[in-house]
Amino acid sequence: MIVGVPKEVKLDEYRVAMLPVGAEELAAAGHKVLVETGAGLGSGIPDAQYNAAGATIVPDAQVIWNAADLVVKVKEPQPAEWPHMRPGQVLFTYFHFAADEALTRAVIQSGGTAIAYETIRDAKGALPLLTPMSEVAGRMSIQEGAKYLERPQEGRGILLAGVPGVAPAEVAVLGGGVVGANAARVAAGLGANVRILDVNLDRLRYLDDVMPPNVATIYSDRHTILESIERADLVVGAVLVAGARAPRLVRRSDLWRMKPGAVIVDVAIDQGGCVETSRPTTHKQPTFLVDGIVHYCVTNMPGAVSRTSTYALCNVTLPYVLLLANQGWQAVAAGHPGLADGVNVVAGHVTNRAVAATFGLPFEDWHTAA
Ligand SMILES: NC(=O)c1ccc[n+]([C@@H]2O[C@H](COP(=O)([O-])OP(=O)(O)OC[C@H]3O[C@@H](n4cnc5c(N)ncnc54)[C@H](O)[C@@H]3O)[C@@H](O)[C@H]2O)c1
Repeated sequence: MIVGVPKEVKLDEYRVAMLPVGAEELAAAGHKVLVETGAGLGSGIPDAQYNAAGATIVPDAQVIWNAADLVVKVKEPQPAEWPHMRPGQVLFTYFHFAADEALTRAVIQSGGTAIAYETIRDAKGALPLLTPMSEVAGRMSIQEGAKYLERPQEGRGILLAGVPGVAPAEVAVLGGGVVGANAARVAAGLGANVRILDVNLDRLRYLDDVMPPNVATIYSDRHTILESIERADLVVGAVLVAGARAPRLVRRSDLWRMKPGAVIVDVAIDQGGCVETSRPTTHKQPTFLVDGIVHYCVTNMPGAVSRTSTYALCNVTLPYVLLLANQGWQAVAAGHPGLADGVNVVAGHVTNRAVAATFGLPFEDWHTAA
């Protein structure tokens, strides 16, 4: 099989979908790997490393899209890439179809097969190709929060760790899933006083067991949320209700209760945000002020730490890429129900119920669509 890795074209996207070791493993299994010139540079991986691993460097993305049976990417295809997709080709990447009807219709029209990272499930029903990016965003939320708490960034002028004789910062983490747990651990490691709020008591029991003593677990309700944001210097929004818009846990009318210059890092912004005043921002202009509160609402946080994110992503995607290349997607989907959950569009048919329902499109089982 010919496996293609084009350079990402989305603004501010520096990740790449394959490491040199992935190219080497595919080549060893008898596949041909085409990598676009400079595809890895944003993650600090020069062409020469792919070359040495057995990949062919191709100067033009069009050549890759024309030749590849399997195209592996990071972000959803951008409008400039839509004309490249074609029948019989498999595209394996993040799509987030439900957020973009034009993209959904373009992929349907292409006649290709779309296997979406974000809907693949593992044996426990979890979403293994989303987890590493939540780990990155959770850890990074504290790094960014610490930066924007600095006075020149319009923050309160607070050092998260405090110093001897001066108390550390108060951090409230709304949602104790993957993002929340990673945020809490990093904040606690820096010495902050941390509260994690969640509605899942079993999850709070687990967090109570594994977190250091400067992390308190609190059941999330309207009263505890208000009490927590009032005392917080930094609030991290990390809630998720699967398949739904993020619940608005902090209202605009609550902001006056917060300390002026406090920071909200609303990681859940990609699902609409859990703070009423949040709106999507970019790495170029990550923050804005509402009622004296700094809001950081970047929708693709992991893109900024591209090298870490590329390695974290490729660690989890490569086993699937190898399966798809070695067996073909139909055989893999037939043998792995979790991967079948990732098959969203096949030859002009929507094969994911949620995507079909979102846009009122007909659903077709992948077996019959193939
Ligand atoms: N901005 C970015 O770059 C970026 C990157 C990665 C993930 N995310 C987003 O971060 C969010 C969290 O992801 P995750 O992987 O941690 O999800 P997760 O499912 O692991 O955790 C979500 C947690 O929220 C809790 N929750 C639900 N309702 C709640 C409420 N009312 N109060 C408190 N807690 C509540 C759930 O019980 C769960 O423990 C998602 O929206 C995800 O898409 C954003």
